[in-house]
Amino acid sequence: MADDDHIGAVLARLSREQKLALVRGATDPEGTATGYISGVEAAGIPPFRLVDGPLGIRAEGQRATAFPASIATAATFDLDLARRQGAAMGREATALDQDALLAPGVNIIRIPHCGRNFEYLSEDPVHAGAVGAGLIDGIQSADIAATVKHFVANNQETHRTTVSAEVDERTLRELYLPPFRAAVDAGVGSVMTAYNRVNGTHMSDHERLVGDVLKGEWGFDGYVVSDWYGLESTVDAANAGMDLEMPGVAAPGAAEAADSDTADGDEEFEWPDGIPDATRAGLFGDPLADAIDGGEVPAGRLDDMVRRILGQIDRFGRLDSNRTTAEAGESSDASVGELDSQRHRDIASAVAARGTVLLDNDGVLPLDDGADVAVIGPNIDEPKLGGGGSSETTPIHSVTPVDGIESRSEGAVTTAFGVPQIESVSLFDLLPFVGEDDETDGAAGDTADREPSLDDAVTAAESADVAVVFVRDATTEARDRDSLALPGQQDELVSAVAAANENTVVVVRSGGPVELPWREDVAAVLEQWYPGQADGDAAAAVLYGDRDPSGRLPVTFAPESEYPTAGTERRYPGVDDEVHYDEGVFIGYRHFDDADVDPTYPFGHGHSYAAFEYGDAEATDEQTVAVPVENVADRPGREVVQAYVRPPSTADADRPERELTGFEAVQLDAGERQTVELTLDDLAFSRYDTDSGWTVDSGTYTVEIGRSSRDVRTTVRVDR
Ligand code: NOJ
Repeated sequence: MADDDHIGAVLARLSREQKLALVRGATDPEGTATGYISGVEAAGIPPFRLVDGPLGIRAEGQRATAFPASIATAATFDLDLARRQGAAMGREATALDQDALLAPGVNIIRIPHCGRNFEYLSEDPVHAGAVGAGLIDGIQSADIAATVKHFVANNQETHRTTVSAEVDERTLRELYLPPFRAAVDAGVGSVMTAYNRVNGTHMSDHERLVGDVLKGEWGFDGYVVSDWYGLESTVDAANAGMDLEMPGVAAPGAAEAADSDTADGDEEFEWPDGIPDATRAGLFGDPLADAIDGGEVPAGRLDDMVRRILGQIDRFGRLDSNRTTAEAGESSDASVGELDSQRHRDIASAVAARGTVLLDNDGVLPLDDGADVAVIGPNIDEPKLGGGGSSETTPIHSVTPVDGIESRSEGAVTTAFGVPQIESVSLFDLLPFVGEDDETDGAAGDTADREPSLDDAVTAAESADVAVVFVRDATTEARDRDSLALPGQQDELVSAVAAANENTVVVVRSGGPVELPWREDVAAVLEQWYPGQADGDAAAAVLYGDRDPSGRLPVTFAPESEYPTAGTERRYPGVDDEVHYDEGVFIGYRHFDDADVDPTYPFGHGHSYAAFEYGDAEATDEQTVAVPVENVADRPGREVVQAYVRPPSTADADRPERELTGFEAVQLDAGERQTVELTLDDLAFSRYDTDSGWTVDSGTYTVEIGRSSRDVRTTVRVDR
């Protein structure tokens, strides 16, 4: 924790000019940081570097471990692994001379099409909050400040810089705010505000949510940073509680790009949808000084901003260059960090494998070591690192699907692309001021020698014991997907291969839910999200059963038309720049339960290669239920035990049928039985009443314990 007297003494030595320099970003002389605070050398305040996040470190011009997409980390339901990933990212940030990581992203997945779902965690607030807290705890254990983002209701990329999320208080409190609250409770150092508006007010001007709720009610004592070019004002933002403007300087070339485009005509230059005005910078520079002079912003506000920023610089040991909180055993050398070490490669691989969800399996998996395998798909020669945008991480080491299977298989391996390559899409291609040479696109380079043919794919499938088809979507920050269908001719490819070989396994790489129209015609389906650099290794480890596919869905998979935001522009993408959250708390599984619609795959779903039997659950105290779980298979396996709570029948009829209240992952050897203890999160028992605030209706609640939101194995009743 920050030492208040120490910070007070440093603050007292600073001139107003120096204080102003600390609340506004500047140009990084080294050019590696995403955001840079220049520090005040004379006062012993070193520069402070902020870097993207959240799939690894995106320091400009540097390579780093490319971890799986955040949604894969969430699919592990493994908080210890999330913490280990966070610690590894923290050590890599240190090795690359950074001080704060712009991660994790904890926005609730409301829209299945959202282009950034891969950077987020879950459709459920208890789950998102727990995984986010695990990541934060890990990042900060390595003396790097975590930045939870994007506060709040940034649930779509379409019109993200202008759209207003029209959302009622109950829905905000029960769904969209809790993951941020969990981050604050985990001690997060920084919160990044979202680009969008909420109920008409830009988040960077939102005094009620930033000042009153985040800082006041929740007691957040770190700093609040704008999203990049996300400040909309000086006075309102400062008074709302914003502490730091980023990046604080216009993007190189942005003004010229805006000018040259308008040179011939007299209309105003329009930034592409989803791209903020990158010339807008310096609102916390001179305009802030003027606002303080004019009495529009209290002088004490500037001191508070600086105190909060210095508090985190000090907390992570930068003021005296002594990193204090890194734990022995977690960090080899906290002040030097660690980059692309074997243990980081192993963590990236473990998350990718453990986050893999076995959606369906008729028994073809795990594969026999000696099976002849046809590896098919338009991108089998490149790893699926992530989606496009600020999270793009360039790895030092990566494994393609073909390489992963070739090194694991003891049978013959043949390959075929089948259909044209799916190209990555990237935010960087949308920026009017980024030249082609600067693009950091993760797509495979040379495609000239590809001559994909469906016939080749069918021939390869016919002569193999098993056909493994790798398919993918392509998503990016700043754009939503148009459809939940796989892009290109991939559905056609899967159907043709499935017709040629009854042992067809499909490995899906997607940033969120996708439609799988051929799923009943194939023998097995795995969802691997964006697996990152470990791609082929993680795929092979699961396909051959070296690792149990213990991932569970953090989002419901359903036909596009069945989601609550389908078919109504009002709910998505919005009308007149307002998107109405009319469905209230009924998103994800809460919606499918309420509408009594069977999803394709429910929240929490995922098979194992093992099989588990549940005994009778019992409540051991107010907050804990215990349930015996036995692995009845002849192989080890990992089970994610989930607890959902149903409100008493006397309670407000408008409550979700069930809400996740706890989960615990357990590794069990063949025949092993363990009693698993689950801690019940109060959030699921509470409802937010606009008049009286948080309310727990008294009565008997049913806690359902099982394998998914739709696979209950035992129940226990608890009174509140
Ligand atoms: C905008 C993105 O919304 C945010 O997540 C990211 O950290 C910043 N750009 C900096 O790249």
